[in-house]
Amino acid sequence: MPTIPVFRNSRTEIAGIPVIDLAREFGTPTFVYNAAKIAERIEDLRAFDHTRYAQKACSNLAVLDLVRQHGVLVDAVSAGEIHRALAAGYSPNGSPPPIVYTADIFDRQSLDLVVEKNIHVNCGSPDMLDQYGSVAPGREITLRINPGFGHGHSQKTNTGGDHSKHGIWHEQLNDCLVNADNYGLSITGLHMHIGSGTDLEHLSQVCEAMEKAALVLGRNLRSISAGGGLPVPYREGQQYVDLEAYFKLWDATRVRLQDRFGHAIRLEIEPGRYLVAESGYLIAEIRSVKQQAGNVFYLVDAGFNNLARPILYGAYHPMSIAPSDGETRRPELDVIVGGPLCESGDIFTQEEGGFVAKRRLPAAAVGDLLVIECAGAYGFVMGSNYNSKPLAAEVLIADSQPHLIRRRQTYDDLVAGEIVPQRV
Ligand code: LLP
Repeated sequence: MPTIPVFRNSRTEIAGIPVIDLAREFGTPTFVYNAAKIAERIEDLRAFDHTRYAQKACSNLAVLDLVRQHGVLVDAVSAGEIHRALAAGYSPNGSPPPIVYTADIFDRQSLDLVVEKNIHVNCGSPDMLDQYGSVAPGREITLRINPGFGHGHSQKTNTGGDHSKHGIWHEQLNDCLVNADNYGLSITGLHMHIGSGTDLEHLSQVCEAMEKAALVLGRNLRSISAGGGLPVPYREGQQYVDLEAYFKLWDATRVRLQDRFGHAIRLEIEPGRYLVAESGYLIAEIRSVKQQAGNVFYLVDAGFNNLARPILYGAYHPMSIAPSDGETRRPELDVIVGGPLCESGDIFTQEEGGFVAKRRLPAAAVGDLLVIECAGAYGFVMGSNYNSKPLAAEVLIADSQPHLIRRRQTYDDLVAGEIVPQRV
């Protein structure tokens, strides 16, 4: 099991490269990912037959290329993510399918694309079966089942139960089998993902639900997927899931099903956060240190346009100061950290519900750098152009070298595609 990280509140380097040098070379705000950390997390999961990366967590082509080179398969939730996977060198089809499209609907673009490229589809609604079956009869599919319960780090990341829009309701599996038969679709696998950032107790309940569903599906079953959801410690004292115990539960489920059906069953896991969260850092520059009555604000040049997790979920991210003069022995104080956006919720130190919280950080001045840590998952990918802020740059540190893997958006990029109607 990985060792529990100790978070520091001063940081001078990332993967051996001085933070100041990274900021000087690439500007701020910039996301920096440590390739070695991603590789380490991939190795943690080798007991599973296949790891399928949920690229929604961080879908830069260089990251996809990296995980592909480590033998990781990929999940795609949109036509755009399928295009990314193909551009990163994944083959459209094979056994096991290198790319799987998992969603609750097909928009017209994704339906056309999976049909044209013969991408494996994991259906999350009965309508997907109808729509796919009527244009691509005879293909193999898997089903994403909602087992009737779910759990996540926030109510917004719980993807199971009757309040969730995700997956095919577990009691409708029989109807789906009949429907699939009508189209000659063959259901060869089952998938369950109950939520993101959950815990072992909830994850392990899925095994039982999977076994029940598998018995309904019967002997056509060739693969089961445990979904994603593995948490990472964002705060001091938080734990990793005991991966050995988790694998054992799933392996035992798989073995029971193999014995029952008399053939091999592939066991997949589908993490997003676990592979990339801890590899990522968002570097921002402090541009104002403001005193508002009793509160000190560090205002930085990154906002929720770059990292939306705090405003969306009250998510906690470790933070550190990279001092511009290299002096790490500074007194500490409780501060509020905010961004540049013209919106009062643009605060990185907030709790769920929008309550502003304080964070103990070293004394800092304009020009010091703030590093927001554990920002590799659901960071850049949830960024926006709000307030016409260009999307940040992304850098991958591999083999002790920083590589620019996405240039910062330009002001021309910002207005590209906009059209002012000509007046007559
Ligand atoms: N598989 C499926 C079908 C999913 O819906 C997801 C995440 C995953 C795998 C990967 O879950 P993970 O291993 O990363 O927990 N924006 C939120 C997380 C939303 C997750 C959506 N689905 C956050 O920042 O916490």
